[in-house]
Amino acid sequence: MEELIVNGGKRLEGEVFVSGAKNAAVAMIPAAILANDVCVIENLPYIDDVISLADTLNEMGVKCDFLDPHTLRIDSRNLNNFCATYEAVKKIRASYYLLGALLGRYKQAEVAFPGGCNFGTRPIDQHIKGFTALGAEVVVEHGMIKARADKLVGTQIYLDVVSVGATINIMLAAVLAEGTTTIENAAKEPHVVDTANFLNSMGANIKGAGTDVIRIVGVKKLSGTNYMIIPDQIEAGTYMIAGAITRGDVTVHNLIPKHMESVSAKLLEMGVELEEGDDYIRVKAKDRLKAVNIKTLPYPGFPTDLQPQMSALLSIAEGTSIITESVWENRFQYIDELKRLGADIKVEGRVAVIKGVKKLSGAQVSATDLRAGAGLVLAALAAEGKTTINNLQYIDRGYEAIEKKLNAMGAEIIRVKK
Ligand code: UD1
Repeated sequence: MEELIVNGGKRLEGEVFVSGAKNAAVAMIPAAILANDVCVIENLPYIDDVISLADTLNEMGVKCDFLDPHTLRIDSRNLNNFCATYEAVKKIRASYYLLGALLGRYKQAEVAFPGGCNFGTRPIDQHIKGFTALGAEVVVEHGMIKARADKLVGTQIYLDVVSVGATINIMLAAVLAEGTTTIENAAKEPHVVDTANFLNSMGANIKGAGTDVIRIVGVKKLSGTNYMIIPDQIEAGTYMIAGAITRGDVTVHNLIPKHMESVSAKLLEMGVELEEGDDYIRVKAKDRLKAVNIKTLPYPGFPTDLQPQMSALLSIAEGTSIITESVWENRFQYIDELKRLGADIKVEGRVAVIKGVKKLSGAQVSATDLRAGAGLVLAALAAEGKTTINNLQYIDRGYEAIEKKLNAMGAEIIRVKK
């Protein structure tokens, strides 16, 4: 067990480079098995979720080799298994993508119910609705989701909720189906688009990714590819907020400014100065920032995965902010931890009312999930004195070298074994 010890109150100054997108990576690695061939994915973030997925595929007969920490070669010519057990997938929420990928390749898949972050019920009814519409029979038995089809046939699928996971999973199952599949009310997140581009580079025929109607014309076969993943929107946002919360001067490199629009808009509204280039945003803050209201929404709305980091920032803003979480039903569990640092926050259902305090002060806290963990790291950077953060396994699932990247800009964070 490890923990981070943060000596807070240091102004961050300097540069940080964003890694590849976690949520694209965890979709593309399973997607690679749709080809009976070799795929090489570059610019992968070196994080626990990626390593766990590569291990899972290895156990299934796929040969996954890291050519370097950010490049994975996936050879699925010897894939011999359509079953991913609980042991294999318990750590990763996105293991559900193995369902769509195995179903697409073998017309048969058995995958244990996914693990990952716990912020309320995380249903997969829309994934199942999609697979069923394509002609699969899906049953849940003994904790395993089992899907099977004689053949998959393209059809029109309307998603009742905008779901990233269901949109990508249906694409995975549909690329090798007969005929045309249309996904309506599809998610538009950058990682949905990147996964569609990856599949197209393997020979798929997907159009409309990034809009709310995606059309997939089934092809007979996919082949191997070399593909470079896009930068991580959420990691980029986390470091932009790190600059703001320490009233620092931070340039976040290797991001796509268009993906950051909702975050940039809120930071500007708070009084942060932003300078934007083709692939960077410089974040400067001098004075105390102003309170703002935020409502999380599917892309291009404000991302729910930056909600805890924003709560940390708003907890020291001047005035009262209201955050409405409209994507997940229970994503404020970490607020009690933020309160240990002196934040003044009241939660009622999906709404958090944050009264900005002048200062936070260091304390011992626990990460309750991945992004909550990042929010606590940011709060600790701004807090006076020492904060100890445990449950790092959550943070390590999704952030590559978080303390190294922050320390390079003047933070004082050490990782210690408990
Ligand atoms: C992905 C992200 C996660 C992010 C979320 C929303 C990955 C690996 N994870 O999760 O970090 O917080 O998008 O941006 O990409 N829902 C249903 N039925 C379903 C599926 C979803 O009701 O079958 C609901 C969920 O309960 C939730 C909402 O739809 O309220 C959005 O979920 P979804 O977009 O599917 O999230 P994930 O893909 O699991």
